[in-house]
Amino acid sequence: MLANAGNSRHAAISSVNCPPIVALELCQEHMKKLPPSPPKLPIIGNLHQLGQFPHRSLQSLSRKYGPLMLLELGSKPMLVVSSSNAACQILKTHDLSFASRPKSGIPDKLFYGSNSFCTIWVALGRKYSEEENGRKSIENLKVFGELLGIFDVGNYIPSLAWVNRFNGLDSKVKKTVKQIDGFLEGVIEEHMNKRKGKAESHSTSEARCQDFVDILIEINEEKTMGFALERDAMKAIILDVFSAGSDTTHSVMDWGMSELLKNPKVLHKLQAEVRDVTQGKPEITRADMEKMQYLKAVIKETMRLHTPVPLLGPKESNQDVKVMGYDVPKNTQVLVNAWAIARDPLLWENPEEFRPERFLSSGVDFHGLNFELIPFGAGRRVCPGINFAMSVTELALAKLVNTFNFTSPDGINPNELDMTESFGITVHRKFPLHAIATPYL
Ligand code: HEM
Repeated sequence: MLANAGNSRHAAISSVNCPPIVALELCQEHMKKLPPSPPKLPIIGNLHQLGQFPHRSLQSLSRKYGPLMLLELGSKPMLVVSSSNAACQILKTHDLSFASRPKSGIPDKLFYGSNSFCTIWVALGRKYSEEENGRKSIENLKVFGELLGIFDVGNYIPSLAWVNRFNGLDSKVKKTVKQIDGFLEGVIEEHMNKRKGKAESHSTSEARCQDFVDILIEINEEKTMGFALERDAMKAIILDVFSAGSDTTHSVMDWGMSELLKNPKVLHKLQAEVRDVTQGKPEITRADMEKMQYLKAVIKETMRLHTPVPLLGPKESNQDVKVMGYDVPKNTQVLVNAWAIARDPLLWENPEEFRPERFLSSGVDFHGLNFELIPFGAGRRVCPGINFAMSVTELALAKLVNTFNFTSPDGINPNELDMTESFGITVHRKFPLHAIATPYL
């Protein structure tokens, strides 16, 4: 039987060492058609090929090895997905098999053991950034974002996990966790006291102004889920939603303004549209926003060219799956390179250029149905904050360009604006953006 399978090496294994059933499994293992892989080094596998900006290095590797590429990161297999068809297979056709998130050292520590679920909107109820403690917490959240994107060698080569004790990473994670925990404790306490105060004064006036934390506390106290949330689980949910929503929207605003400064014609066209709708009034309504089609195109183009989370959220196969003719074994981690897909020359004309006009005559949207543009992911793990994120960024950008005229600081040619990226799970500008804002209204 084994010879019929056309693999005499396995037949030899069977006759010398193994009982037939084991030999058959080995044979089937070898008959698997795995996705193409670049050559690897002993122990580290392909780790050295990730570089400082993995979305860029993986894009160039995929040009050579194809849209489904299997890497070995230390001891872990990692499937890299770099075309819209392949992304559709993973996120739609086989989404049930790829819906799990892999366990990972640093995110686990930062998210209270990854003990959370994520379906509700975000709001802490007020601006914490105006206080000293709040400002420190914002700084800590920045460090938090960087730590999430950091490469944790122990995750891939367990025998090297000790390295983090000496390179300062463990203590940095510990310190950040402690500081963010203090901030979240303060937020929960404040909301609980407010709730207690309201109950004692029998006030109903603020009943309709509940924020996200209020709702969590209410669900917990009234046990509407049938069980109480541990304090840590509550903090993990708040942190999950808060961190998922703030860093990403900030990135879109930052890159959007950078591209507008770099492309003054686009800026002027956008200003003309927004000012034509607002007619000199500073407030912008939802009805106004509906008329601003170029604004929506500018934001789409920003998210195409500067996909805020270039490698989407990591996923893991929970069973053996056949994808595009290749066998993807159970427990393979999956990275979808949404950034590379959004710059694929087979899908986009002049993909490296910032041209919002491309969206004016196209129905391509980013709600997870058009796989050539998936900055929010798609399928079961699609970002639950899309509409909220879009309302916030559209309004913020419209207000900025309505109220001010913008130019680059003296002596800087817009074409030469520095667009270097920083390192992290969400990609930001490496250097802060400087612009001269002159009031228009
Ligand atoms: C421009 C802004 C945003 C972008 C680009 C973005 C992008 C993403 C991406 C790529 C994912 C992972 C999808 C995947 O794994 O395939 C994600 C997940 C998530 N996002 Fe967003 N997001 C944004 C804003 C928001 C906002 C405003 C919120 C909340 C108010 C939010 C809440 C979440 C949550 C809770 C998850 C985790 C979902 C899960 O693991 O199942 N996001 N987002």
